[in-house]
Amino acid sequence: MKITISQAPAHNDQTVTMGAWLANKRSSGKIAFLQLRDGTGFIQGVVVKNDVSEETFQLAKNLTQESSVYITGKIVEDTRSPFGYEMQVSDIELIHESIDFPITPKEHGTEFLMDHRHLWLRSKKQHAVMKIRNEIIRATYQFFNENGYVKIDPPILTGSSAEGTTELFHTKYFDEEAYLSQSGQLYMEAAAMAFGKVFSFGPTFRAEKSKTRRHLIEFWMIEPEMAFVDHQESLEIQENYVSFVVQSVLENCKLELQVLERDTEKLEKVKAPFPRISYDDAIDLLKDKGFTDIEWGEDFGAPHETAIAESFDKPVFITNYPAEIKAFYMKPDPNRSDVVLCADLIAPEGYGEIIGGSQRIDDLELMKERYEQHDLTGEAYKWYLELRQYGSVPHSGFGLGLERTVAWISGVDHVRETIPFPRLLNRLYP
Ligand code: 4AD
Ligand code: MG
Repeated sequence: MKITISQAPAHNDQTVTMGAWLANKRSSGKIAFLQLRDGTGFIQGVVVKNDVSEETFQLAKNLTQESSVYITGKIVEDTRSPFGYEMQVSDIELIHESIDFPITPKEHGTEFLMDHRHLWLRSKKQHAVMKIRNEIIRATYQFFNENGYVKIDPPILTGSSAEGTTELFHTKYFDEEAYLSQSGQLYMEAAAMAFGKVFSFGPTFRAEKSKTRRHLIEFWMIEPEMAFVDHQESLEIQENYVSFVVQSVLENCKLELQVLERDTEKLEKVKAPFPRISYDDAIDLLKDKGFTDIEWGEDFGAPHETAIAESFDKPVFITNYPAEIKAFYMKPDPNRSDVVLCADLIAPEGYGEIIGGSQRIDDLELMKERYEQHDLTGEAYKWYLELRQYGSVPHSGFGLGLERTVAWISGVDHVRETIPFPRLLNRLYP
């Protein structure tokens, strides 16, 4: 019977066949330990000289890294391995011999590994990170589906900018100028007026010349948008969503978190509600922490965010930023027009901003004013203003950056390891 490694626990004491690759190997005169992987998991195959044909034992002993095989044997419990099972091998059929696989068990430099990303993805650590990414996506769909949201897909090719014009990827759209989407938000606002509560999940692009451990040129964003929901209500949705995702990973990715040696105690604490601190109070906090130069009106950089996050053991919302340093569509605080009804959610442990969100301006005249202040003109914006013209309602939304969230939950320090094929400032290969 042919099974996958993930199915091994259901076949204890049975003889089965698996298609697999050899990840690693140890052998002596009488026994060979094969570390096997098949994409669904990793398992050890034990080949004992006296129990198999001479041919099979020689094949096992000489098997090269990443060679592919059909391997047959009995599944038995193995309490020493985290997976809990191993295979007592009886037969091996070589499918393809891999010669000189470039990524050996020794240490390699990051650039070398990035150049071999198409092969590096096979490694145990990368496998664990991608499985966690997959679980975050799965939990995201579950959360929004269970809470009455409709998944809506905004376009990737757009005629307008959502998050300022400096970081746009330009492209030709036949005779017109077009951009790759920086955010689906503006379209999601139209969708919220049609479906009430909506969310998107898709790639977004920022032509940002940043070379930090938090920046990708192409990243994936989850963007919910809700009609009749104000800023405070939106924060509650955000904290419930992030808690649900973290608790789902803890529940469903135990093995992966173990492979990554993630301190799960820190993740256990991530349960709603999350603390909130106003931008004003954050400035005072930073001054107390030794950032004596910071002035009201300045945006926070990574060191500021990390310093603020250190004061809390859960993600923290920084709310009500100065209008000047935030996007044109954010609604001013009715009690104070110099700040807007917005929040960034800062992850613990130095992982930085994972969510940016706000209540949106719903007043047509104010939105027109903002357009003029931000020099946003042209036909492309006509439709967005019309959303304020026909039954405008209070509405809010947010965007969660998937890769930063994966980095935080997995405990890997650079976002380049959280997406299968990262697009970085100097990297379009592979
Ligand atoms: O704060 P941002 O720019 O917000 C928006 O785009 C809003 N329109 C979202 C909305 O309200 N619908 O981006 C949202 C999140 C950030 O908090 C961060 O997690 C992630 O997207 N992000 C990036 N991730 C990786 N690389 C980059 N260059 C990123 N820029 C933003
Ligand atoms: Mg932001």
